[in-house]
This record gives sequence, structure tokens and C-alpha cells, in this order.
Amino acid sequence: MTAIKTVHARRVWDSRGKPTVEAEVVLESGALGRAITPAGASTGSGEARELRDGGKPLRGLDVSQAVRNVIGPIAAALRGMDIADQASLDRAMIELDGTADKGKLGGNAIVAVSLACLHAAAADAGVPLWKHLAAGRRVALPVPEIQIYGGGAHARARVDLQDFMVVCPGAGSFAEALEMTAEVYYAAGARLAKKGALQGVADEGGYWPTFKSNEEALSELVRSIEDAGFRPGKDVAIALDVAATQLYQGGRYSLALENRSLSAEQLALMLERWVDAYPIVSIEDPFAETDTEAMRAFTKRVGHRIQVVGDDYFVTDAKRIAAAAAVGACNTVLIKPNQIGTVTEAYAAVEAARKAGYGAIVSARSGETEDVSIVHLAIGWGVPQLKVGSFSRSERMVKWNEGVRIEEELGSSAQVFAAGRLFRRGA
Ligand code: PGA
Ligand code: ZN
Repeated sequence: MTAIKTVHARRVWDSRGKPTVEAEVVLESGALGRAITPAGASTGSGEARELRDGGKPLRGLDVSQAVRNVIGPIAAALRGMDIADQASLDRAMIELDGTADKGKLGGNAIVAVSLACLHAAAADAGVPLWKHLAAGRRVALPVPEIQIYGGGAHARARVDLQDFMVVCPGAGSFAEALEMTAEVYYAAGARLAKKGALQGVADEGGYWPTFKSNEEALSELVRSIEDAGFRPGKDVAIALDVAATQLYQGGRYSLALENRSLSAEQLALMLERWVDAYPIVSIEDPFAETDTEAMRAFTKRVGHRIQVVGDDYFVTDAKRIAAAAAVGACNTVLIKPNQIGTVTEAYAAVEAARKAGYGAIVSARSGETEDVSIVHLAIGWGVPQLKVGSFSRSERMVKWNEGVRIEEELGSSAQVFAAGRLFRRGA
């Protein structure tokens, strides 16, 4: 066994310039693991709680208490423990915290340490993290889901939907999917600039557009795919994140851009019409996190044709996934380690999705950093899709580029890239 020697933390800064926690774990062998906690903007209410200082400085967002919790009680609890036993390390932190939402020590403190431990274990074994997790199994690169326009809480609700993304069923490799997406991203930017509708980029690097309706984003995205020389649906398809919890007010869904509010049934009809009219293969959080009945009914109607993804709805919680599977709500799970707070629990969510026959997507947050852990988790855990935001800004590109390196290293030993198989859309 290799024991943990020290656990340290410091305040660093995320892609929105906000404070976050970086943890460092050093082993008796000298191996080191490091990880940084990301942050959401359109968070689910069931997420592990971020501990922020409050008060006036840094608008209350500082994380000095979370950092102290790592350096003090968490370090004391983990020192001397076996780095190979991730489950015990995570359990020790969960027990030390003692709350249901990790609010005492802070989910942002715990997840940084949990991931840093995982990195330290891989470093101790002398292998990249993805390889450490794969433990000899053959792996594939995940299919990237990449944002072209950003909206919702990431662009002051300029468009109501949060993510207009593309996936590339026509790509034969991760590298090719990135290349195709780059062409679409450039084409979309050129179209917006020509219309005078380009307002810079939103939080995840997607264009921040001034469209007149949400549907205009869809038709413009289809034209951008064509401008880039691809066949919509066949080569490049559309994935949406409605992030509908953000739109939910008094039992209805408010589309501020279009100055109207829809019942769940009306929203379902609108989305279904879009699925008929546009090459959409995936819709995330089509309804609010509490609206199980709408999720279930929508999945029943379109779940055989497209991915219905739960993000705020599942918050990476294995128990919620099992409960939704029992009633047939959604068919795919977004996996965000900081939503649940430890590596062990995030992996339990992956296993719960597998058990339910659901798909899975490992995902970044809107507030990100140079940390590339999620790329390794997707590959090492065998999760077939990866969502990182758009195709600009280095906190996004660092993750796509990590995938490029790993794909090159794998060479012909990689399993087949699954884009075509995943997104062959049913009738
Ligand atoms: P968040 O959004 O990181 O701001 O929560 C990402 C998403 O909804 O997928
Ligand atoms: Zn989402």
C-alpha cells in the first residue's frame, strides 16, 4: 500500500474569474495528484453544496473556509490512508462531513480532494489516469457534444435555451469530430457576423447571438452545418440543453425572448415539432428538475428517436437514476462529479445508468479551469459521450486537446469511435 502523506489546498480562479478550490495530495512514495473544482451557473437544487464565504469581498464567493476545511479536518482524516482505496477515502470525507448535501465541509472542498486522490493513485501506479481507471479494459474516445450557441443562464438569457450543440455521427474518430465541429463553429460565427447578430461568446465559449426566437437558432445552426459542407443529421446533428429548471415559474415554462409562457404539454409539443423539423438527436433537461411526470411522458413520446438527458434532474445521483428508471423518465444521464461530490458516488451514477440501460455523458460545468480530469473519467470509465462546452476558450480546448493526445496514444488499440452507432436516429 502507498499511504497519503499530505493533503493541501489553495484558492485558485475559474473561467469566470471566480474563486475555486485546488487540492493537492502527496503520497509517501512522492507521487502527487492535483485537481480543481469547477462551478455551475444553472445548478440543480439537489447538487452537493458549494461552501462560499459570503460577505462583501469577492461578492461573497470566496472559498477560504472550504480551503481551510481541506488543510485542517480533511487532511487529518486522510493522512496515512491507502491511496488505492478510493471508496474508503471518499467514505471518510462523507462521514466527516456528516450532512446530506456535503454542506459542512463543502462539496467544492470534497470533490477537489477526491479527484486529487484519484490522480495521485494513477501517478503512484505510473500510468495516465484514464489507463488507471480502465484497468486493462479496451477503451474508446467519447463522442464530443460541442456547443455552438450559448444562452440561458450563460448569456443573460439572450436566448432561452441554454445550449445549442452539435454531435458528429459522420465522424470516424474523436479528432475528426473536432475538425468537423471546428468547420461548423467557424461557419456559424461567419453567419452571425454577417447578420450583425454576434455579441461575442457566452460562458462556455459558444457564440452569444441576438436571435429573434429560439427556433431561429435551430434554423441558423442547420444552415451553418450546410455552409460548412456537411449534411445535417447525417454528418452533423443537433443536441439541445433546454436547462428548463431555469425557465420554470409557477408551474409554467417562460420563454422570455418570445414573450410567452408554456405549459409542460405545450413545451413538449414544441420540442416534438422541433424533433420532427430539425436533425435533433438529443435534448437535455427538457423539463424542470421537479417535473417527473413531464419527463416521463416526453420520454415515452420521443425516447425511441432521441436521447432525453437528465442533468439537474439527476444531479449525478445513483438513487435518482434508479427512481427515474423505474418510471421511464429520461434515457440518458449527465455525469458531473461536482454535482454529487466524490469520485466514488459519480462512478455509482455511471453504474446506475448502465444498470437502467440508460446512456451517459460525462460533462464539464460552465465555470471551468485547466483541469482535465473529466476527459480521463469518460475514457477510463467507458462513458461514450463527453460534453465540455464550446470550441473556444482554453478551459474548453484544454479538454478537447487532452482527448486528441489520448486518441493518438491509443492508436489502433482503441475501440471503435461510436458516433455513428449512437446517433443513428429512429423514425
Ligand atoms: P452549469 O450548466 O454548469 O452552469 O450548471 C451546464 C449544463 O447545464 O449542462
Ligand atoms: Zn444541463
